[in-house]
Amino acid sequence: MPEERSSRIAGFYNLDFNARLRLLTEWAALNAEEQTTLSGALGLNVERGAHMIENVAGIYGLPLGIATNFKVNGRDVLVPMVIEEPSVVAGASLAAKLARAGGGFSASTDSPVMIGQLQVVDLDDLEVARAQILEEKEPLLALAHAVDPVLVRLGGGARDLEVRLLPETAAGPMLIVHLLYDVRDAMGANAINTACERLAPEIERLTGGKVFLRILSNLADQRLARAEVSIPESALAFNDFTGEAVAAGIEKAWAFAAADPYRATTHNKGIMNGIDAVVIATGNDWRAIEAGAHAYAARNGRYTSLSTWQRDNQGHLNGKLELPLALGIVGGATRVHPTAQVALKILGVQTARELAEIVASVGLAQNLAAIRALATEGIQKGHMDLHARQVAMAAGATGEAIERIAQAMIAEGVIRVDRATALLALL
Ligand code: MEV
Repeated sequence: MPEERSSRIAGFYNLDFNARLRLLTEWAALNAEEQTTLSGALGLNVERGAHMIENVAGIYGLPLGIATNFKVNGRDVLVPMVIEEPSVVAGASLAAKLARAGGGFSASTDSPVMIGQLQVVDLDDLEVARAQILEEKEPLLALAHAVDPVLVRLGGGARDLEVRLLPETAAGPMLIVHLLYDVRDAMGANAINTACERLAPEIERLTGGKVFLRILSNLADQRLARAEVSIPESALAFNDFTGEAVAAGIEKAWAFAAADPYRATTHNKGIMNGIDAVVIATGNDWRAIEAGAHAYAARNGRYTSLSTWQRDNQGHLNGKLELPLALGIVGGATRVHPTAQVALKILGVQTARELAEIVASVGLAQNLAAIRALATEGIQKGHMDLHARQVAMAAGATGEAIERIAQAMIAEGVIRVDRATALLALL
């Protein structure tokens, strides 16, 4: 892939579907089947779906949009986003454009290490049990390591074993073993759960206790992803807003989220708008990502912002985001869902870490787009166009009527289904 190509595609939003498809086809060398998959004519069908979940009785579609302008660690990327909410894809693209003024996003990840938990109960003495387990740490790790030879061949496997004591729970004292397991390019739930189950009888033999739950933790805090951006304030100016005023407003908006859990929840929801959309597009488990993100936001005992936005004295606005991102590019729905495969091809990622670096960057971009709007002209202005179209469709409008009714409602300043219904009756 030529590295000099740019994701800064002015007017992408003005292209029709066929022109967008041509562009993507060239970008990612999509074959005919992949193109048809994106069009919706192929893709996930009932037969394939029946291999994914139980009781399949249909296929549920969502739009896939492309966020443009992203540069992550010096590489230009087009980002597939699957989401039902208007303005998210446009917001990400706008923020990525602003980020380019500072060279784009810098992102990094930890090794893909997941945590598996074993809950040990019915122990006489927690401290004694802890010592018994830690004395046998190396053989236990070797046992867990041997569970998945393929993963070991790829450089993954068991990394460490930790013991945590919970002397007072509602069900009495318990000891928790944490197995740290490098799952390479997988999300890793299966690998880690299998390794935990393999360790359970050995832990019981060593301690005389009973191993109860054996399951991964979605607080994947050994597998963090980070994204950073530094934007010259001058690049943030628009309409009547100076760059300095926008940067100061963004800093104030962040300070609110940092101090107040009510605001932090919404602030983080804005981050997750971007993150989930790419996670879903690539067939990953977005509930796992959501659970991990919010738990991480409360890691110090108080729920707070996942990101920070601060001005420096060199005229830059600096943004940072850090959160656990247990994402895979092999296994699960990433492999089975045809559109997820195409999404990964468009992203051009070779490893799960690279995917996580892009996803973290999109989360930071989405956050920037939201708080920039909130701190300046308000969120509704940008939302109105697509929102009005959705309301028009909800009232039954089709074809050209959608746009006409939407524009009429925007002009009146009344965007409601009852008004759209009334306007539709007049057409
Ligand atoms: C809406 O989906 C997301 C926002 O509420 C995020 C935020 O308030 O920062 C706009």
